[in-house]
Amino acid sequence: MDAARDTGSITMVGAMHPNRNKAVERQVRAAVFVGFVAAAAILLFWLVFRADPAVHEGSVQAVLLLGTLALMAEAWQFMLPRSAAASIAFIPFTAMALVVPNWVVLAAIAGAKLIEAIYSRRAFVKSTFNIALFVAMFGSTILVYRAVGGTGFLPQHGQPPISFADVTQINGMPAIAAFFVVFAVNMMLLSTVIALHSDRTVMAVWRENHLPGLALELLAAPIVFLFAWVYVAYGPIGACLVWVPILGYRHTIKTTLDLETTNRELLELMIKSIEARDPYTSGHSRRVQHYAMLIARALGLSEREVEHVSTSALLHDVGKIHEKYGKILTKEEKLSPDEWALMREHPIDGANLVATMTRLQQFVGPVRHHHENWDGTGYPDGLAGDLIPLASRIIMFADTIDAMTTARPYRGPLSEEVVRAEIVRRRGEQFDPAIADSILSSPIWRQLFVPAHPSIRGHEMALAGSTTVEVVGASRTLAKRIAHRVSNDR
Ligand SMILES: [Fe+2]
Repeated sequence: MDAARDTGSITMVGAMHPNRNKAVERQVRAAVFVGFVAAAAILLFWLVFRADPAVHEGSVQAVLLLGTLALMAEAWQFMLPRSAAASIAFIPFTAMALVVPNWVVLAAIAGAKLIEAIYSRRAFVKSTFNIALFVAMFGSTILVYRAVGGTGFLPQHGQPPISFADVTQINGMPAIAAFFVVFAVNMMLLSTVIALHSDRTVMAVWRENHLPGLALELLAAPIVFLFAWVYVAYGPIGACLVWVPILGYRHTIKTTLDLETTNRELLELMIKSIEARDPYTSGHSRRVQHYAMLIARALGLSEREVEHVSTSALLHDVGKIHEKYGKILTKEEKLSPDEWALMREHPIDGANLVATMTRLQQFVGPVRHHHENWDGTGYPDGLAGDLIPLASRIIMFADTIDAMTTARPYRGPLSEEVVRAEIVRRRGEQFDPAIADSILSSPIWRQLFVPAHPSIRGHEMALAGSTTVEVVGASRTLAKRIAHRVSNDR
């Protein structure tokens, strides 16, 4: 069976319930974890209060000013991929913890996050998690900072502010420990809640969402330290002046993320514009992308390799955008030999298109060779065995599975047993035998036939980028996603 033409719609109402149950299960697990984080936040608040219950001179003024800057930053949040948001509020928050490392800071942070939650009308569980997350982050940060000898930057009564050299000597190492704790707790708690909500490992979520932003986070550490000292040495005016270049830092992060988002959206626009021409292939590339990711994970590939397979799969049929395929794609009858010959050019056209973008060079091979057969009888180059890019060999499975499990004018969707028989029959001919054996015996095999539209890359609460990240997006329900798919898939 050639998957290139054989794609189309799907009927899937029957088996929604198991997935819905699973989604509810995930939500319950995540809610229990939110409760745990809230309890930890209360405990940490109490421990910080017990360590230093006093309200020191100048501390209220410090948290009011820095808290106001943090609120401004919260109001100027920027969206990350997949319904998460980031802000640079953690810079004044962390500076507050260095200036006044006691409970007053935690109260101010909880208050600022509460104001922000009310203003943005966020759901109760998400608001609770975000407030608890920040109190837990900065509660543990203050405890560690004090435990390793860190002291508040604010001068004692009547004393002049200490010099930058002195403050670095006294508090430099404790501040490094504090930064480590802020980042570590943020990454750990966020990755865990996302993993619980999406059936993925904490490490996988962390690698995908936090690792790319680590360099920017480390860049923020000296900025926070300097910012805290400038506030103490030069007062509110000095702090506001330093705030301006910090806004530049925020702009750098936002621009980087915007670029990534734009690139991803451009790819999706390309894919949608191809599929808009042919109702039978609508949603095909996204489904092939999802199946390819499941197979790649079943094979034990790294997240980076899974990402490579994922984008290759999304782009695999991009060559069909060419005008010459227009009539063939909408033709309901069987193709003539000439039309088949023409259709066989689409991997070459796709590879040429992909090659025009510098950052897509790595996908040229996988796109060009996604119709190569393991035994060398495929097209366009007749490559065989390991000479075929791994991503192309995976796409071959994903493409075939989608083609067989979607309805055609001349037949309904085929069953899992029929697909299995086809893969066994063509194992070593069309399909890589090692991959065939792996997926046929893998627990992931069943997931390939779950009739629900999957979240494409992990989970809607997933995020990327900076430590300032928090959960904002309202999760779409599985039912909504299914409805969306049904309406899109003709
Ligand atoms: Fe194709």
